[in-house]
Amino acid sequence: MNRVEIILLSNLTKRYDTPAGIVNAIEDLNMTIYKGDFILIRGRSGSGKSTLLNLLAAFDKPTSGKIIVSGEDITKLSEIFSAKYRREKIGFIFQQFNLLEDMTGFDNLMLPMLPSGKSLQYMKNRIAELSSIFKLEEKLSTPVWKLSGGEKQRLAVVRALVNDPEIILADEPTANLDVNLSKELLDTLLSLNNMGKTVILVSHDEMVRNYSFSKSYTLESGNLDVSLP
Ligand SMILES: Nc1ncnc2c1ncn2[C@@H]1O[C@H](COP(=O)(O)OP(=O)(O)OP(=O)(O)O)[C@@H](O)[C@H]1O
Ligand SMILES: [Mg+2]
Repeated sequence: MNRVEIILLSNLTKRYDTPAGIVNAIEDLNMTIYKGDFILIRGRSGSGKSTLLNLLAAFDKPTSGKIIVSGEDITKLSEIFSAKYRREKIGFIFQQFNLLEDMTGFDNLMLPMLPSGKSLQYMKNRIAELSSIFKLEEKLSTPVWKLSGGEKQRLAVVRALVNDPEIILADEPTANLDVNLSKELLDTLLSLNNMGKTVILVSHDEMVRNYSFSKSYTLESGNLDVSLP
């Protein structure tokens, strides 16, 4: 079977210039990820895991190197096209959910879909379909701050999926969840992967041992070049 490259990192470097000195968060990283892979990324705190996901989602630009996604170097995208890329291609599941707490579940799901130009009926159907899978139908009109942790977690997953992205990025998504919810979330990622999505998971959760990954990486860069005052 021919594997299709979906993400290619070439000589990727990200440095932060901080008052305490230069932080080499990512150093000369090369990686090939294939369509349909389920990738685990580990590494000690500060080893550059979130930096890497943020670069992949085009939230930030590298200092040097390339990130080719489906043949296109996303490091060259302008702000507007970065946002479009992120909206259409990437589903990001954040550790702290990053939901808008004062808005309802429905509105949180609607927001990322609005720029797509799809019809209101399409968007409502999409929300209904996913909410039913993740058992959130009853909660869509509730402001997020009233939801339980598990409901917020499912809402964050649904939000990552509304635009049917090819790539799912999850940054320590189980860090704030109990054992049952963590398992539910990891099972969800696995089933998305089984549906053909490329999933990149950053996690230290012991529970990941129960899952099999296409590949697991341990980041060890992030070496801190400091000149302390
Ligand atoms: N915006 C920033 N400005 C300056 N330094 C940063 C910035 N973001 C990250 N860093 C630094 O870059 C290094 C890598 O950070 P990163 O958040 O990628 O680590 P991580 O592997 O995700 O860690 P953790 O497991 O604690 O989440 C750290 O030394 C961090 O302090
Ligand atoms: Mg992190």
